[in-house]
Amino acid sequence: MSKQKFTNLNIVTEIEVYDSSKHLAEKDQQLLLESKKILKNAYAPYSNFQVGAAVLLENGEIITGSNQENAAYPSGLCAERVAIFYAGAQFPKVDIKTIAISVKSKNVVISEPLSPCGSCRQAIAEYENKSGKPIRIIMSGEKGKIYIAKSIESLLPLMFSKKYL
Ligand code: THU
Repeated sequence: MSKQKFTNLNIVTEIEVYDSSKHLAEKDQQLLLESKKILKNAYAPYSNFQVGAAVLLENGEIITGSNQENAAYPSGLCAERVAIFYAGAQFPKVDIKTIAISVKSKNVVISEPLSPCGSCRQAIAEYENKSGKPIRIIMSGEKGKIYIAKSIESLLPLMFSKKYL
């Protein structure tokens, strides 16, 4: 038998799991509520899948966004990036502390937390790298548990960043 030529890199990721939003810190509950409130502004006629995001900045400002779809599908944008890019555009010098994400589907009941798509993770990673401070990510479904990641590193191990450039 030939000797194995590789070792395994086992990556451990940590997510806090809460049974419901009432177990969250009050500030986190408020931010999550803001992300829920903005769901109604989602423009999602193609997927019927509404997403709301609320970004808390270090100066206490809360920026909200919702997904905006397009008949040319890739031209649409996720709620997380709508909110994060707006925050970056309006407050370029203010760091992002936390992002809360909510969801509502017209087709099914979402009973698990919505975890941001790969492109949104990469965008969150960019702002975390820009500030050098972790961004907390609060994820919720329409019902069920709430997840909190303390940093994008928990959702995007081995991320590509400016350190390679
Ligand atoms: N969507 C988001 O807004 N955020 C995510 O993290 C996942 C997906 C949107 C994009 C599209 O408008 C709809 O949900 C279905 O993919």
